[in-house]
Amino acid sequence: MAGSNQSLSHSLRRIMNNDADDEPPTRPSPSHQPSPAPRTPSPAGSASSTSTVNSEREDEFFRTVHGRRLNSMNMSYMLPADKSEIERLELEHRMIKFVLGGKNYIGPVAEVLAPRNGERRVLDCGTGSGLWAIEMADEFEGVQVIGADLAPLQPREVPPNCTFELFDLDGQRLPYPDDWFDVVHARSVYMGIRQYQRFLHEIARVLRPGGVIILAEVDSAPMVEGKRPILPGPRGGAPGWHMFWDTYRRALTSRDIDITIPTRLRTCLRECAAFENIVAKEALIPIGFWPRDNLTLTIGQLAWMSHDNFLLALRPMFRSSGLSEAMVKKIIEDAQHDLYEPPVRLSCCWHILHAQKAARPRK
Ligand SMILES: C[S@@+](CC[C@H](N)C(=O)[O-])C[C@H]1O[C@@H](n2cnc3c(N)ncnc32)[C@H](O)[C@@H]1O
Repeated sequence: MAGSNQSLSHSLRRIMNNDADDEPPTRPSPSHQPSPAPRTPSPAGSASSTSTVNSEREDEFFRTVHGRRLNSMNMSYMLPADKSEIERLELEHRMIKFVLGGKNYIGPVAEVLAPRNGERRVLDCGTGSGLWAIEMADEFEGVQVIGADLAPLQPREVPPNCTFELFDLDGQRLPYPDDWFDVVHARSVYMGIRQYQRFLHEIARVLRPGGVIILAEVDSAPMVEGKRPILPGPRGGAPGWHMFWDTYRRALTSRDIDITIPTRLRTCLRECAAFENIVAKEALIPIGFWPRDNLTLTIGQLAWMSHDNFLLALRPMFRSSGLSEAMVKKIIEDAQHDLYEPPVRLSCCWHILHAQKAARPRK
């Protein structure tokens, strides 16, 4: 048993790296006085509970684009909002949980959510399948967990301390008072946030001093083991894979999404001037069946399955970017070829950060 624990932590150390100039984590500041008035549910258009969503109202929340169901609230977010996408999100959720050693968070979350006078609250931005919010609500029973999203993809049966709300996080004031949440989590959402810096400012506003922000985004640059970039063309070793990611990056850029966000999260947090104790980690995740040890292999398999699904999920965005049906088919098939018969050890890099809201704005 001790042996397997040792190899588990060894594998995790190999996957998760601290950035070179990390600031050391410190203990959170003492708890704040809860002050804001209770939040009134916002009207449709800014926020509404999924409890009001039923099958007759499907058309209000979804539209069909090139054969897949998408959200109808934000036209630039073009990943599907359907069963297959939920399955992909569940795979990715499990994968990240393995990477985080079986946990849903990094940073002083447990300390910040420890019982005290007053309500404790967590916000999951772009909650997707809602799994993260549900598991957090299960783990922290006395804490109110809210998952916000563009689409009602989340299950109806949820823990009593978990709710879901629908609103657009991009370019808007979040519908919560200042200093309202103890923890805010935003994982894999930058593809739907054109004004990412404004989004961070809003998170800083609704987070209480000492509260924890957790960000996680995957790099869109194709790479192989050891974080080496895949170069274009046959000499790069995976031309189909490279072309797919190149097309993805172009499509996001044409929708005014800043594709450099995942690699610049630390800078974005610093520029916000509201956070301290910023800790940035990189998780180098294998995609496929090439890792040797069991844990990394499990992560690689989950990443492989998630990517297998992701290749098809991009069809609506690629088609809407003006690419012909034949062209999109070829791009996806060539990428599938490199995924199914990998000529190189495909990998990806997740950037995972946590920080705390400073008591006063930082200079
Ligand atoms: C790739 S999924 C990630 C889901 C979840 N965070 C996870 O890691 O499993 C991105 C989710 O963010 C949501 N999203 C993207 N842009 C958004 C926006 N501007 N406002 C609200 N939700 C958004 C999408 O609808 C989708 O469910």
